[in-house]
Amino acid sequence: MEVMSVLLTVLLTIGLWDQTNGVSNGIGKTPPMGWNSWNHFACSIDESIIRGTADALISTGLSKVGYEYVNIDDCWGEQNRDAQGNLVARASTFSSGIKALADYVHSKGLKLGIYSDAGSYTCSKTMPGSLGHEEQDAKTFASWGVDYLKYDNCNNGGTQPQKRYPTMSTALSNSGRSIFYSMCEWGDQNPAKWAPAIANSWRTTGDIEDKWDSITSRADQNDQWASYAGPGGWNDPDMLEVGNGGMTMEEYRSHFSIWALIKAPLLIGCDLRSASSETLGILGNQEVISVNQDPLGVQGKKVSKQGDLEVWAGPLSNKRVAVVLWNRSGSTSSITAKWKDIGLSSNTVVQARDLWAHSKLSTSLQGNLTSSVDSHACKMYILTPTSS
Ligand code: GAL
Repeated sequence: MEVMSVLLTVLLTIGLWDQTNGVSNGIGKTPPMGWNSWNHFACSIDESIIRGTADALISTGLSKVGYEYVNIDDCWGEQNRDAQGNLVARASTFSSGIKALADYVHSKGLKLGIYSDAGSYTCSKTMPGSLGHEEQDAKTFASWGVDYLKYDNCNNGGTQPQKRYPTMSTALSNSGRSIFYSMCEWGDQNPAKWAPAIANSWRTTGDIEDKWDSITSRADQNDQWASYAGPGGWNDPDMLEVGNGGMTMEEYRSHFSIWALIKAPLLIGCDLRSASSETLGILGNQEVISVNQDPLGVQGKKVSKQGDLEVWAGPLSNKRVAVVLWNRSGSTSSITAKWKDIGLSSNTVVQARDLWAHSKLSTSLQGNLTSSVDSHACKMYILTPTSS
């Protein structure tokens, strides 16, 4: 195993590994959808929050539109391993243990995710990381019934991620369970270039915040790596902030629309047990979700901009095209998507469906699509060619 891991590291580092199809664990053919504890709760988590969130995914109907992972982030474990070197759930907050939680989540038809770190301690330093314990920890996670691992980058002793991350990938493959592997090395060593061979997703940015500038800058940083994403392996500009209260509903709608278009993981980051109907309306928009989950799996990109008025677009299955007109300026403005920028030939006639108004535009379009868009808002469409 050691020899395999060294060989993989060398191939990854010199760029000789075939990255086109992603890690071969067969999962993540479309971006993962679910919830994660960090953006809202940080370290203040316990098992009742996790159970309550699983319940909420069902009662809100979000599980029906595709959200399935219930992911526990940092701070779930005891400070020290047990006498056999195993990670242990924190007795004061996760007294039933992770296996019982996984059983509960599975009984609802959902999946459980957990968090560790490719270093000696996790980022909060409240629990051990998995560096040097990869095989043992992967087996522990598998034995608990874990379905997803987010693997962080703190306290790593200065070893390159290209060396540390493949080891956990191999350990997960050997664990006997299909576990989605979500790398979180913050885009540090341009992971899009080497992670597709070993992981199902990789962070391309530092931590998101519940602020407009954080959304726009993460979208832009992530955009440069678009061509590296595809079924089985996705760029991750970090988890959703929709519903956490720091932005307007229009800003959250933009955040969600762009994350869907760019095939980002859709991991809800608010307290779902008390989410407002407006928040649920954004997160539950099935038409927008269908763009994210389209089987073609091509990441949409920024295709044109005039100042802060931007057009983002990407191809969908059946020759359709998804388009977002995104107004990042301070005032209402008209934005035009030109066919030549969004991959359609100039004579193509399309029918356009507005994914937030849930209606078809009354007339067919040829050559371009123009709409007035409020400040920090967006319009999102699927264009279906009717002739060309
Ligand atoms: C960061 C990571 C966050 C969260 C946090 C936990 O490194 O980017 O998403 O997991 O650690 O401490």
